Amino acid sequence: MIPQSDKARRKIVVVGAGAVGSTTAYTLFLRERATELVLIDVNMDKAKGDALDMNHGLPFVGQTSIRASGYEECADADIVIVTAGAAQRPGETRTDLLKRNLAIFDEILTNVMASGSEAILLIATNPVDLMTQYSQRVTGWPAHRVIGSGTLLDSARFRYRISRELGVDPRSVHASIIGEHGDSEVPVWSLANVAGMPVSLPEERKKEVFVDTRDAAYEIIAAKGATYYAIALALDRICAAILNNEGSVLNVSAKLDGQYGLNDVYAGVPCVVDRTGVRSILELPLQPEELEGLRRSAEKLTNLARETFP
Ligand code: NAD
Ligand code: LAC
Repeated sequence: MIPQSDKARRKIVVVGAGAVGSTTAYTLFLRERATELVLIDVNMDKAKGDALDMNHGLPFVGQTSIRASGYEECADADIVIVTAGAAQRPGETRTDLLKRNLAIFDEILTNVMASGSEAILLIATNPVDLMTQYSQRVTGWPAHRVIGSGTLLDSARFRYRISRELGVDPRSVHASIIGEHGDSEVPVWSLANVAGMPVSLPEERKKEVFVDTRDAAYEIIAAKGATYYAIALALDRICAAILNNEGSVLNVSAKLDGQYGLNDVYAGVPCVVDRTGVRSILELPLQPEELEGLRRSAEKLTNLARETFP
């Protein structure tokens, strides 16, 4: 249980007040997830403008204190969410962003560490698994406290897409995408279920459902330049699991330590998330081809990590 005093005061810092950061802050604000919400961005005007705009909504929402400020605010934050950095332009993959975002993270992580923060670090910047791995490496913080949004968004897209096939509420569809948040991700069809009943769709429908899921971001980016609503809800969901000490099972990016025969690589897998961050990593009973897919995805991430931050 969280002590009462901690329950009363909840502070979340959002680094990066772009499309994802400001939508995340607004989602956290609407859901009254924190008592204090801080926005940090190199573009201070954008952070200030967002904070002021949201403050004007306070008469309709609640009592969150929202401000634009600096990294000293991380000192007593419960969660620091990082959404800062370059985003994909149409035609780019997530991994194309790696080098650009590593340089940006050097600056951000130095500042977060200098604050003496003991927060949980929640990364959304792409390529998210590698940015999370890099963040854990640079900070030296325990891996359970450095988490990526992983395949939580992809799993939500998968559940949504399956729900359209079956005509049921997406919340009643239980299904996982694992591995990289990106092109090598893997659908776990063998365990997808509604009320414990397997999802039985013809193979060609399954293929279509997965391709729609995997490529959803490309479609949205081509249409409007960025994705932000669903990722904001996914980040809010992770914050809720942390702040409420829920022990919820969420497909976040966590550092594998022998699970699935993989080591020293961050990837999206179902994890128990609570006040400590990732309390434990669940090892799904995968079919051989699913396990093979996960290993290939992890190998891609490991190779990219070796090439860029050996
Ligand atoms: P954006 O360009 O709208 O916003 C990025 C923000 O980062 C800008 O406001 C910019 O000023 C700020 N920034 C840049 N350098 C900074 C620094 N050194 N310190 C502080 N702030 C800095 O981009 P976006 O659409 O908000 O996307 C942000 C990131 O989130 C991208 O990498 C994108 O690919 C990723 N993303 C991840 C997911 C996911 O599922 N994990 C989903 C959507 C987007
Ligand atoms: C997404 C981002 C672009 O929406 O990673 O999947």
